[in-house]
Amino acid sequence: MIAPHGGKLVHRTADSPQAVAELRQESKNFRALTLSGRELNDLALIANGACSPLSGFMTREDYDPVVTSMRLGNGLPWTIPVVLAVEREIAPTPGSRAALYDSEGELRGVIDVEDVFEYDRRREASNVYRTEEEKHPGVAALYERKDVLVGGPVWVLPREQSPDSLTPVQTRAEFERRGWKTIVGFQTRNPVHRAHEYIQKCALEIVDGLLLHPLVGETKGDDIPAEVRMRCYRALLENYYPPDRVLLSTMPAAMRYAGPREAIFHAMIRKNYGCTHFIVGRDHAGVGSYYGTYDAQKLFDEFDPAELGITPLKFENSFYCKRCQQMGSKKTCRHDASDHVSLSGTKVREMLRAGELPPPEFSRPEVAQILIEASREAATA
Ligand code: ADX
Repeated sequence: MIAPHGGKLVHRTADSPQAVAELRQESKNFRALTLSGRELNDLALIANGACSPLSGFMTREDYDPVVTSMRLGNGLPWTIPVVLAVEREIAPTPGSRAALYDSEGELRGVIDVEDVFEYDRRREASNVYRTEEEKHPGVAALYERKDVLVGGPVWVLPREQSPDSLTPVQTRAEFERRGWKTIVGFQTRNPVHRAHEYIQKCALEIVDGLLLHPLVGETKGDDIPAEVRMRCYRALLENYYPPDRVLLSTMPAAMRYAGPREAIFHAMIRKNYGCTHFIVGRDHAGVGSYYGTYDAQKLFDEFDPAELGITPLKFENSFYCKRCQQMGSKKTCRHDASDHVSLSGTKVREMLRAGELPPPEFSRPEVAQILIEASREAATA
């Protein structure tokens, strides 16, 4: 089994009933901080070990080198800040403990405050997102973030677990049970289409199993809701995949749309879940035209493969070719773009809104049906 990032899984869920009772009791005396949806998504990743070796939100000692040079303070590759922001007036003092609440006032955990520090949003935007433009949805979220960052290890209260959402310990156990030695992870935030299926199946020709691992944390407003996407994945798997070669489970991170840097982050998370390989296709985690089609793939080459540990499987832009009558890419098909069927997410959303099914060369009919029904429901809701 592949080692987690940094050597061992670090999970921060309080597991004994006694520890939980103590946290609940003590936290009444702590400074109360309310986390945003994105911060709660990060808290879930820290809690279940997906963000190993992080034991909490970043202190300046990690945040600065992550922003400037894609490494944690200890030198391990890490490309995306994982931070907790609060208003300056209510910032807790280093050395204290603070209680972490969600917006409904439910206690979710505590943080041992090690560091409270100022940060430069524009510097983070230009380094992490390669743009300072507010039009970029990840940058917009960053600019809305509160004034100061609070870093330190956390303890998180256990929550009822959906059967769809396995932890790294559980996916690793499942891979072992199935006897899989090589596992490819697939990140996705979009409804599954045939190019996704094609690159997953190309990968499945060479590894033992696929972890189909849709991101279900916060996404931008016009992305298709996770629950609809899950129905699509299930329909696809039931109809087109051998059941013993695929594990479908959700991944609770929020989407940053940080393209190349987020691709590395996605890969490190999947390594923690036990994947040995990771699919990086066209414009991974990109948005609009902020990143070059293969920039995410290129960033993997800036690291020593041994320090990443997980192997990227890089795929060309894939499409259905009417002349070849099959899926392919420019590596396998000689025909012109006019023979190719490929649609943007925006185009598909437009078609669905107009009550039109995406063509079978783009979407499997079982998937298209679910999408159009969901689009009708959303329109009448
Ligand atoms: S992402 O934001 O999660 O990257 P999406 O769900 O569309 O968006 O993509 C999931 C994975 O499939 C990413 O690795 C992406 O690069 C890859 N991908 C999506 N569409 C294609 C395509 N037509 N050809 C090749 N790779 C693709």
